[in-house]
This record gives sequence, C-alpha cells and structure tokens, in this order.
Amino acid sequence: MTQSRQIHLVRRPQGMPRADDFAVVPVETPDAAEGQVQLQALFVSVDPYMRPRLDADQPLDAPMLGSGIARVVQSRHADFKEGDLVRHFSGMQERFVSDGRGLQKLTPDPALPLSVYMHALGGTGITAYGGLLEVGALKDGEQVFVSTAGGAVGSVVAQIAKIKGCRVAGSTGSDDKAAWLRDVAGLDAVINYHKQPLASALREAMPNGIDVYFENVGGEQLDAVLPRMNVRGRIPVCGMISTYNGERAGVKNLSSMIYSRVRMEGFVASDFPHLNAQFQTDMTGWLKSGQIKYQETILDGFERAPEALVGLFEGKNAGKMLVRAAE
Ligand SMILES: NC(=O)c1ccc[n+]([C@@H]2O[C@H](COP(=O)([O-])OP(=O)(O)OC[C@H]3O[C@@H](n4cnc5c(N)ncnc54)[C@H](OP(=O)(O)O)[C@@H]3O)[C@@H](O)[C@H]2O)c1
Repeated sequence: MTQSRQIHLVRRPQGMPRADDFAVVPVETPDAAEGQVQLQALFVSVDPYMRPRLDADQPLDAPMLGSGIARVVQSRHADFKEGDLVRHFSGMQERFVSDGRGLQKLTPDPALPLSVYMHALGGTGITAYGGLLEVGALKDGEQVFVSTAGGAVGSVVAQIAKIKGCRVAGSTGSDDKAAWLRDVAGLDAVINYHKQPLASALREAMPNGIDVYFENVGGEQLDAVLPRMNVRGRIPVCGMISTYNGERAGVKNLSSMIYSRVRMEGFVASDFPHLNAQFQTDMTGWLKSGQIKYQETILDGFERAPEALVGLFEGKNAGKMLVRAAE
C-alpha cells in the first residue's frame, strides 16, 4: 500500500467553477498485483473540455477524469519496467494501479523537456495541427485569425500558420500574452479582446479579410469574425470556451456564411491518427529549431489541480496550464 491522493468533484459548479467544488481525497493505493503496474503521476493535464463534463458526465465523489504523464514505480507486467514513462487517461490520481490497458509508452526526445509532451507534442498540439491543416485546409500565404491565441492550442495554431507563410492575427485576454504573441511568436497583429472593440480591431488587424478562422471561443468573437470571412473561407471549430460555464451570447451574423460560402466544421483531437507520425516529426523539428515557441503555466503540487482548472476560465494561463505532481 502507498499513501496517495485523488481529486474528486464534490459539487456540480453553478456557472464558473470554484476550487471548493473539488476535494483532495487521501486514499491508499494497492501494490501492483501480477499483470499490473503502479504509476506515479508526474504531470496532470487540466483542460477546458472538463468544464462541460462537470454538469453531468463526471460522477461526484470519484476521481476527476483527465490525462497526464506518469512513471511506472512498480511493475509486475511483462510490457513495462520500473522507470518507464507513459501517457494515460486514468484521471486525477497521484498514484494508481493499472493492468496496462490505455497506457501509451512515451520515449521523450532527450533534447526536449518532458512537459512539451503535455502540449505542443501532445493532445493540444495534434489538435492545432490537424485542425488547421486538415479541417481548415490551410493554404500557404492565407489570412488567418486565431482566438485564444495565447493558449496551448491557439499559440501553436498561430505559429504553424506563420511557418506556412500566412498573415496571422490572434485574440487574447491580457497585454502580457499579447506582447509575447507579437514579440516572441511573431504574429502580425494581436487583439486584447478585453480592451478593444472586436469589430473595429478585426478590420484593422485583418485588412484583407480572413480565409481561416481557428475557432476556440464562440460567442462574441465568432460573431465579430463572421462578416470578415473571405469567399470560400473555413472555420475549423475546435472549441467555444466562452460558452462552457453556461453563458450563451447570441451569434447574430451566421447568415453572412451564405454569400461568402464559408464552411464551418467541428472536430476533435482523436480525428487525426493518420497524421500522427508526420505531426511528431514536424513538431519535434519545429520545437528544436525554435520555429515553434511555447509558454507553460505550471502549478507545483498535485493538490493544486482544482486551482489550475479554475484558472483556465480566468485566463490565468499563458500557454498550457499544467500541474506538476512530482519530478
Ligand atoms: N476539439 C478538440 O479536440 C479540442 C482539444 C483541445 C482544446 N480544445 C478547445 O480549444 C480551446 C483552447 O483550449 P486550450 O486547451 O488551448 O486552452 P487554453 O487556450 O490554453 O486556455 C484557456 C484560455 O481560454 C481563454 N478564455 C477563458 N474563458 C474565456 C471566455 N469566456 N471568453 C474568451 N476566452 C476565454 C483564456 O485566455 P484569454 O482570455 O487570455 O484568451 C484562457 O487562458 C478551448 O475551446 C478548448 O475547448 C478542443
């Protein structure tokens, strides 16, 4: 037995989630039995998709759903040895036992920090890559606008579009993130949507209209973008974070899709297994060459996962929000 902790949802949030909707629950993790491994969480992912699940799908008083990177600390399983690193979808558990199903062995490139496998080389990276290149059918030199451009998905989308020779603008919610996007990531224009009226800021930022709008926010930002879309424009719909706490700002400009022949298409990260090998090669190269830069907001301590999740909806993260549970 090993002393461990789990994060439980103890109350369904009303609107914005609060840290005390969750509890850090002490548990005892059994030793690995024959055919099992015991794992120790290293990084815990917190992601916007979790919020809608808190309304119904996530059971109360049970480990929060979620993914992460963990280390094998005991092995009685033929396919794993102590010290192996794995990706898992076993939820927010500091230690846990597994029969190996659903574990994905990870062999990180020694020249890159492990944390990048939680974002640029992980789920948010493939979301950005597949969403922009396949669903958005990006062509070199196009006009691209990205919402939540300072976040994990958005910052990668914006930089892939720059690599493809596009003019790229993005929206974000703070001056610090805006400065990073302009000065470090090399965007052509950045809108702080808390300070600038969207319609006029978009006209200025995208004087030649928008061929691809990478949609992460919905609501008012989508509404402001729709009339700026060029003919045969594409809107890969990755997320609509402005609606996840129950707000439903009306979108009034959908009819502008008709004459501009715009295609809007939703997708999820798991739609792109056929792109994975090329994605890993491209992204590893871009990270090593410095063509893709990243920010991370890492909260130290497993018990800080609720704070990290709430922080996503307060815009507290620059780049990927992560919890480091152990070194
Ligand atoms: N389809 C998929 O498979 C998939 C996979 C991963 C992510 N996603 C979606 O992609 C989007 C970004 O996810 P991420 O993991 O990269 O998170 P992220 O952008 O790193 O973090 C969330 C950011 O959203 C912004 N935000 C929060 N509440 C907002 C609101 N009410 N209005 C406007 N912006 C708000 C905040 O940044 P600022 O306010 O500073 O901009 C916050 O930092 C989300 O919509 C998510 O659901 C989809």
